[in-house]
Amino acid sequence: MFFLVHLFNININQIINNQSNQYNMFKKDVYVGRRNRLKEKLKGGLVLFLGNTESAFNYPDNAYHFRQDSNFLYFFGLDVPGLGGLIDLDSGKEYLFGNDFSIDDVIWMGPQPTIKELASEIGVENTEPLTQLGNYLRNANNQNRPIHVLPFYRGDSIVQFSNLLEINHNETENYVSLELIKAVVDLRSIKDKYEIEELIKASAIGYKMHTTAMKMAKPDVYEQEIAGTVEGIALAHGGALSFPIILSQNGETLHNHYHGNMLQEGKLMLTDTGAETPLHYASDNTRTVPVGGKFSQKQKDIYNIVLNANNHAISLIKPGIAYRDIHLESARIIAEGLTDLGIMKGNPADAVREGAHALFMPHGLGHMMGLDVHDMEGLGEDHVGYDDEFKRATQFGLSGLRLGRKLQEGFVLTSEPGIYFIPDLVKKWKAENINSNFINFDKVLSEYIDFGGIRLEDDLLVTETGQQLIGKRIPITVEEVEETMKS
Ligand code: GLY
Ligand code: MN
Repeated sequence: MFFLVHLFNININQIINNQSNQYNMFKKDVYVGRRNRLKEKLKGGLVLFLGNTESAFNYPDNAYHFRQDSNFLYFFGLDVPGLGGLIDLDSGKEYLFGNDFSIDDVIWMGPQPTIKELASEIGVENTEPLTQLGNYLRNANNQNRPIHVLPFYRGDSIVQFSNLLEINHNETENYVSLELIKAVVDLRSIKDKYEIEELIKASAIGYKMHTTAMKMAKPDVYEQEIAGTVEGIALAHGGALSFPIILSQNGETLHNHYHGNMLQEGKLMLTDTGAETPLHYASDNTRTVPVGGKFSQKQKDIYNIVLNANNHAISLIKPGIAYRDIHLESARIIAEGLTDLGIMKGNPADAVREGAHALFMPHGLGHMMGLDVHDMEGLGEDHVGYDDEFKRATQFGLSGLRLGRKLQEGFVLTSEPGIYFIPDLVKKWKAENINSNFINFDKVLSEYIDFGGIRLEDDLLVTETGQQLIGKRIPITVEEVEETMKS
């Protein structure tokens, strides 16, 4: 993977000046190759990738920012609403369905490419108006040919598909194809060099977002001022956030989207955010910093446990190791660190086996990342993160692990351990005597209940022999964070 070396030094200005072409997509061979590999994995029938449509915000003409479906982007590349991509597995023919823009559209939107022109950008020969898509699908259905679709996650798509096939909404699920899901997961799990290049660009934007947040984290500043500035950086680089920003001095709430607090000296600010590039590849990082720029000793003690857990987890990443085992290793580091501080007690290995550490880290170590920040989650988390060998656990904490299976070269994933003091959860466990052999509840309640939470998250590529951080590491040691916050 030698090509990574120079990409890591990518200059953020190049991201703006170096977009692939006017359509924001890879070269056509990339999409042709992906569709060919998909065809090799499937037996027969039709495969339909329904692109997303515009989605109304508060009235029909006021739409949310358009986000194309990631599977459509992966195989058909076009970031345009209202398209359908069809592959006939029996004839090998590929079709792009869509309506050409009218002069009325052009008046409001400016000059637009034709469907034929769009199709040629992705190496698809056949084009048809959208109205023809229903005929193709119904003909296949009448001939009992399989129609493979992926799970739907938008009501609009369910309505569109049921209208195309002239079936009831609740029958659409019958067309969701496990064979197609598995084939797509196989392909999308292994990132090619073009995707890695995009992911590195996303990380460069994320770097700027996070270091800016660090520098702004001063007492009396409102969280929303920082959240808004950080989102602006993502927008200013031609993309968007890869998910709604999580930024809070109450970081013990895992996905805290409330940004109305004024930062207070003595609190920690947790920022979990990432960007999408114009081609929609994501970054996803978390940093936790002391408001005002200086960690207290008590904060440092917890922070360094999380940092050790993250560094240790990262060092273990390589092909062939199950991510569930790495999750458990990070849990062991957390249990050992908390035991050293007297917050936990007993044997840390036993504590992890019983799931006692999950009082403090109730989530999984990480997830796949790519075109979706939780990559392919819409296809079903267990199809992406688990397989015949590794089934999802039921134990509290471990059950939240999105990726448990063995890693392969080319996977891109996050490592994001954390330690949180969640008052309601601590009180519930104490009241119900849960894992009381391993938790020093009195110490937690008297000394840590208003501590907040710490999470540290990096993005990694699994290489042939180990792992490589995606892009330059955002300041993470106590010294690096304090130095950055000073500047
Ligand atoms: N960074 C948000 C998440 O992984 O859930
Ligand atoms: Mn994440």
